[in-house]
Parts: sequence; structure tokens; C-alpha cells
Amino acid sequence: MSEGSVPVRVQRPPAEVRYADELARLRETDRGERPPGWALSLQAARAFVLGDERAGISGKFVGDPSLIDRALVALATSRGLMLVGEPGTAKSLLSELLAAAVSGDSTLTIQGGAATTEDQIKYSWNYALLVAEGPSTRSLVPAPLLRGMAEGRVVRFEEITRCPLEVQDCLLSPLSDRVLSVPELAGPDAMVFAREGFNVIATANTRDRGVNEMSAALKRRFNFETVFPIPDLATELDLVEAEAGALLRRSGVTVPPRRDVLEVLVTTFRELRAGTTGRGEPMDRLSAVMSTAEAVSVAHAVGLRAWFLRGDAGTPADIVPCLAGTAAKDDAEDLARLRRYLEQRVPRHAGAHWKAFHDARHLLPG
Ligand SMILES: Nc1ncnc2c1ncn2[C@@H]1O[C@H](COP(=O)(O)OP(=O)(O)OP(=O)(O)O)[C@@H](O)[C@H]1O
Ligand SMILES: [Mg+2]
Repeated sequence: MSEGSVPVRVQRPPAEVRYADELARLRETDRGERPPGWALSLQAARAFVLGDERAGISGKFVGDPSLIDRALVALATSRGLMLVGEPGTAKSLLSELLAAAVSGDSTLTIQGGAATTEDQIKYSWNYALLVAEGPSTRSLVPAPLLRGMAEGRVVRFEEITRCPLEVQDCLLSPLSDRVLSVPELAGPDAMVFAREGFNVIATANTRDRGVNEMSAALKRRFNFETVFPIPDLATELDLVEAEAGALLRRSGVTVPPRRDVLEVLVTTFRELRAGTTGRGEPMDRLSAVMSTAEAVSVAHAVGLRAWFLRGDAGTPADIVPCLAGTAAKDDAEDLARLRRYLEQRVPRHAGAHWKAFHDARHLLPG
């Protein structure tokens, strides 16, 4: 969760740049056996993702260590790795960290969507050169899949189930035969054989479009791993504190978020997500996604609002206006549920910070 040296001020450099120092240190001290084509051993890759205090490696993903072991083993086999789960459970983050650990590069990424084409996955052509010289390796423009195969690197396929089925299926022969044909080229260039180190990490969301939107043939070529939300409050609170703190520092806010404010925020998210209070009483659940990732971004907004409007660290009252845009999206009923939560459930929590949250309920728009 800490940051490495960032040479340029881009908003979010890829993991191999954010954590370049840690990766270099792990490579130097790595004594484990490396699978062919890998930049790190399995032990070092695991330490990169989960952290290793003694070696000064920060924890980046919070979750079951055995999930990371299974994911790494899957990547060393000839089957792809499919990360599925609820939105905002860090599937994309985990796929980025795994690619950075295994290949030293997380940027060979295909973003799946309704308009994704095979060209964006495999290769396309530089049309000026194509017309002038005909198809050649010079006029070929490789896309992430071809590059990953030719260079022996991990390719990330985000939100794969959002792509049309026939487009997804162009992964079949790269995953099973480890070859991609380029029929326009003649001779040996017409076949690209995957080098050691190539594999695919795909992610898919269980909410928007389930994994049913995938052919059985393709499913067989992936090992599926489910990424679950963080089970306990204390761990989620620590994560939100660290992530929001880092985001706020990058935004030029010099005071860290207050722990009591974050406790109200994370507890609220957990109760609205689960549809039960901390004491197990049933309550209305929101239809909007109340994930950890959303909690981090609301905590970031609370800190920004307080700092740039008043020059302080933020109070429980700041949560109310920042929460509205996350909790009430396309379902008008969600705003009413949120209002009921603030009016009826919040007063049952003890403490001045909860009282301040309750007192600010009029700040809810609408
Ligand atoms: N278990 C976790 N470990 C570390 N960070 C987490 C975890 N769960 C959520 N986060 C937070 O969520 C952010 C990552 O969300 P990410 O976009 O990777 O989720 P996702 O599962 O891909 O979501 P979506 O389904 O919407 O694509 C992280 O940057 C971090 O702030
Ligand atoms: Mg994602």
C-alpha cells in the first residue's frame, strides 16, 4: 500500500512503476526456482502481492494467501487464470499485481467491451505500409495477445464477458495450442508460437454480465478463482485508511483521514452492502454496489472536500454528501433507503462521531 518512487506525475502509473524498487529488490534476493519465462519465483511473486514485512515489501492485496498460491500455480500451467467476483473486490488490481510479478509488465491489457474486436486482441495493420508493401512483419501492428505470445509475457483481459462470444473465442487456440496464426503472412511468420512465460489472466464481474456469457470451450481453458469481499471490519478499515491516505497525499492533502470518520464510513458501507446491521438485525440493502473500492473513493472525496473547502481532515458530516453519488445511482429507491438508514439505523450506534453523522442527514440531496 506504500508507494515506490514515481518518476513522472501521471495519475496512476502501472504496478511495475509504482513498485519498481520492491520488484528490483525481490529480483536481487530471489533464491527460489522460477518457472520458465518468469521474472520471479512463486515465493517472491507471492511476497510482492501479499507483502513481507521483514523484506520491506508492502502488502498490496488483502485476501486469502492460498488464493494467491493457486493463482500463481495456475499461471505456471498451460491454462489461463480467470478471476471472478463481485464488483470492486480488487480483481483488476490483483491481475495487475500478478502480471507485474510474473512478467515485470502489467500493460499488455485488453479492455473487454461490447465493441471489442479481434484486431484489438490479436493484431491489426498499418494501412499505409500495407498498401505500399503488402502484408509483412513491418506492416503488422501487434495487439496485446500477439505481443504476449511473442515476448513470453502475461496478457490481461479485463471484463472478458462484456465482449461478444465470437470475439472471446479467438483465445481458444492461443490458450490450447499456444499458437496464433497470421494467415496474411507467408512462411514462418504466419505462425506465432507462444514463448515460455505467456499466459492470460482474465477478469469477470458477477454483477453486470455473469460468466454464463462465455462459451463452455473457453471456460475449460481457464482455472476459475473467486475473489471475495474483505470479511472483517478491522481489515477493511485498515485497507481503506491506507488506500485513501495514499490517494489524499497524491492529491496534495497533507492531513491523513481521521480514523473515527473512516470507521463510520466503512461500517455504513458494510451494513448497506450486507443488508444487516453489525448486530445482525435485518435492514434494507442498497441495489448500488457498496464495494471496498467505492469506500476508498468516498473516503478520498471526504478528505478532498474537507481540505480544499475548509483546510481540515474531514468530519462524519462530510460523509453524507460524498456518499449520495455512490449510493444512489440508477435506482431512485436507493436514495430513500439511504435516508431511512441515516434516520433510523445510524442513531443506534453509540458515540459522538455517529451522532455527528446522524445530525448531518439533511445534507443528503433530493
Ligand atoms: N482485497 C483487497 N485488497 C486490496 N485492495 C482492495 C481489496 N478490495 C478492494 N480494494 C480496493 O479496491 C480497488 C481495486 O478495485 P478493482 O478495480 O481492482 O476491483 P474490481 O474487482 O476489478 O472491480 P470491477 O468489478 O468493478 O472491475 C483497490 O485499488 C483497493 O483500493
Ligand atoms: Mg475490474
